[in-house]
Amino acid sequence: MRLFKQLLVVFSVLAVLVAGLMILSYDVIKIDWLVLMELQESFDDQETPLAVPARSIPVEGAAYLPGMGEPVNPVPADETSIARGAELYTIHCQMCHGADGRGTGTIAAFLVKKKPADLTSEAVRAKSDGSWFLAISYGISNPANSLFPDVEFSGQMPALNENLTVRERWDVVNYLRTLTPAE
Ligand code: HEC
Repeated sequence: MRLFKQLLVVFSVLAVLVAGLMILSYDVIKIDWLVLMELQESFDDQETPLAVPARSIPVEGAAYLPGMGEPVNPVPADETSIARGAELYTIHCQMCHGADGRGTGTIAAFLVKKKPADLTSEAVRAKSDGSWFLAISYGISNPANSLFPDVEFSGQMPALNENLTVRERWDVVNYLRTLTPAE
């Protein structure tokens, strides 16, 4: 009986210790452990990504070089390109710009600072393919744009260069040119 009591005490103490450790391991009580991975330039979930280092060139080749002005669309607007663009548009743009491109996507209601542009409007259609390409690539009002002082941006659109390859961005541009302009 005495042994049983002693064991009970030992196990109770152990249980309390283990429970204490478990609390720490599941962040119930959050302790900022020193994590070596954090000791570098990095960005957290949903933080604006770091700007592309100056003078770096993407593996697909230079999409845009600072000081070179707006790039020229190298992809012919054939059936394949437009079909691909339409597909990509529904995935990457429709939630903000809407199925018809008029800027009334599901997310548009939640964008307080600046509403998505009406891509069928006179003002946006008057801009070149290259300017659309840059808006898709680097977003609008993104710190990354500071690398491109000769391009004017004014609002709130995320940079999508990590979501779409260079070719895909031109496909989306070709598709956008097929949208019927607003009356
Ligand atoms: C998170 C929402 C969001 C997504 C996703 C998004 N946009 Fe935008 N877009 C915006 C907002 C907001 C603006 C308005 C910025 C402004 O007027 O300054 C804008 C503006 C634009 C413009 C106008 C640029 C100009 O020069 O006036 C173009 C072109 C454009 N978007 C294309 C696209 C394409 C193509 C995609 C998909 C590949 C896309 N956007 C995805 C929010 C979004």
